[in-house]
Amino acid sequence: MNQIYKKVVDCYESIKERIPFQPKVALVLGSGLGNYADSMDVKAEISYSEIKDFPVSTVPGHAGKFIFGYVGEVPVVCMKGRVHYYEGYPISDVVLPTRLMKMMGAGILFLTNASGGINTSFGAGDFMLIRDHISCFAPNPLIGQNVDEFGVRFPDMSTVYDRELQDKIRKAAKDNEINLKEGIYAQLTGPSFESPAEIRMLRTLGADAVGMSTVVEAITANHMGMRICGISCVSNLAAGLSDSPLTHEEVQEAADKAAPLFKKLITESIVSF
Ligand code: HPA
Repeated sequence: MNQIYKKVVDCYESIKERIPFQPKVALVLGSGLGNYADSMDVKAEISYSEIKDFPVSTVPGHAGKFIFGYVGEVPVVCMKGRVHYYEGYPISDVVLPTRLMKMMGAGILFLTNASGGINTSFGAGDFMLIRDHISCFAPNPLIGQNVDEFGVRFPDMSTVYDRELQDKIRKAAKDNEINLKEGIYAQLTGPSFESPAEIRMLRTLGADAVGMSTVVEAITANHMGMRICGISCVSNLAAGLSDSPLTHEEVQEAADKAAPLFKKLITESIVSF
């Protein structure tokens, strides 16, 4: 058996008795959304550290567990905390949780994150519906022998972000009078923030926001045929667009401040799926 596939199966086998239902939605909580589960009807929790060989995040504010619960009537598995490539894990470990949630039965992957705003019409605290992404500055998670159990060698990437889910998110935002920007998200590896010249380059390439996650998970989920959607919380203006230097604390603070509205947008979106 392919070693990458075997590792996901082993993780799944080690926790399957504790999974309370087949989730419809797999929700990845980005910065600021860590306590989203407080608004869910929680049925079970599994700490990442209890799962054999599972990658555990080292970033403050990202300590991790799976939380299973209902958002309205919708069964959801939530990832509280994710691992990032910059933590030093192989990219196959970074995307292992995504594969595990598909193995649990989730058909929809809902990705959230905090990002730096590149589009000059964006401000800190804005939400951006991810319409497409730029992946070429991060390692492709599908490099290596193809895992046929998950998908094909050369997956199509022309509509990674599901059009129907995008429409539902737009409607949820409109119905709840939440301002929703839209755009292209670029993933870089981090952990250093970008230089102003890199931000100008990314703008020239068509990126509206930049971060250190999400795209590799989207590629992996797309490979497995999941329906994908994503919203980014713009926590700061990207490097060179404001006078202040960037810090993780600033990102966390801005994401925390935007969290109540972000949670509402996510809940209202999920119940409409
Ligand atoms: N750059 C990269 N990642 C980020 C940023 C940023 O400005 N803000 C939040 N995550």
